[in-house]
Amino acid sequence: MKTPRKIVLLGATKGMGRALSRVLSARGDLLFLLGRDEEDLAKTQADCAVTGSEPVGFALCDLEDPTGFDAALGAADLALGGFDTVIVTAGMFATQDALERDPVLAARVLTVNFTNTVVFCEFARKMLLARGGGALCVFSSVAGERGRKPIVIYGASKAGLSQYLEGLDHKFRASGLRVLTVKPGFVHTGMTEGLKAPPFAGEPEDVARTVVHAIDAGKAVVYAPMPWAPIMAVIRALPRFVMRKVGF
Ligand SMILES: NC(=O)c1ccc[n+]([C@@H]2O[C@H](COP(=O)([O-])OP(=O)(O)OC[C@H]3O[C@@H](n4cnc5c(N)ncnc54)[C@H](OP(=O)(O)O)[C@@H]3O)[C@@H](O)[C@H]2O)c1
Repeated sequence: MKTPRKIVLLGATKGMGRALSRVLSARGDLLFLLGRDEEDLAKTQADCAVTGSEPVGFALCDLEDPTGFDAALGAADLALGGFDTVIVTAGMFATQDALERDPVLAARVLTVNFTNTVVFCEFARKMLLARGGGALCVFSSVAGERGRKPIVIYGASKAGLSQYLEGLDHKFRASGLRVLTVKPGFVHTGMTEGLKAPPFAGEPEDVARTVVHAIDAGKAVVYAPMPWAPIMAVIRALPRFVMRKVGF
């Protein structure tokens, strides 16, 4: 049996993060949960304890408040006796219409998904590298691969994040840091509630299993559900004049 990982998970209170926390605790990994709502964190902790190892603790961490990142990761490090894996599923979505109407909301989405996620990863990266490396797994999106009409601003936030994560992988893999960029397609969670689901929409539990496998395998990029890899290969190849015409 593999040595259990010591994992910090930011975003475990809902959706794919919650599914991941269940999958990881069920196989005996040690978890420390970060999020912005104490009650929700306690619920996830109790939820994990039903089918697997109970997370060793949780702490507040809000991606809108970078002043708390260092302390949150410090608390996780202490409780886990030194973490070796950091996972970030937390992220924010709003429709293109809402973001075009409300520049303050647009600034929040860009800040949470790009600037502050990068700042959080910088704290995590330094701590991991100081002990010889480890795994950093961050949820970006297929939305970051092309400029597309329905997701101009959200897509830009994820494009920036994907670019940063690719750079980290190139710079630090030889030093022992394995950076995994997760690129989900459409997945049924609270984030996509009310949106029209395209073909190949996925479920959080399936994505969680795919991601855990990719972390263990030391992959740099994973698409989930799997069909989104070939779909995005086609979309990446479409000329701009076609992208201007289509509505997706
Ligand atoms: N669902 C999809 O189709 C899809 C597709 C592509 C990419 N993604 C990306 O995949 C990731 C997970 O998405 P999901 O569908 O599982 O979303 P979700 O169910 O809405 O969960 C989002 C998580 O992010 C947390 N979060 C939001 N803002 C935060 C903040 N300021 N500080 C800390 N935590 C915050 C939420 O915490 P609270 O519980 O406190 O709200 C929640 O735990 C996101 O990064 C998303 O952009 C999703």
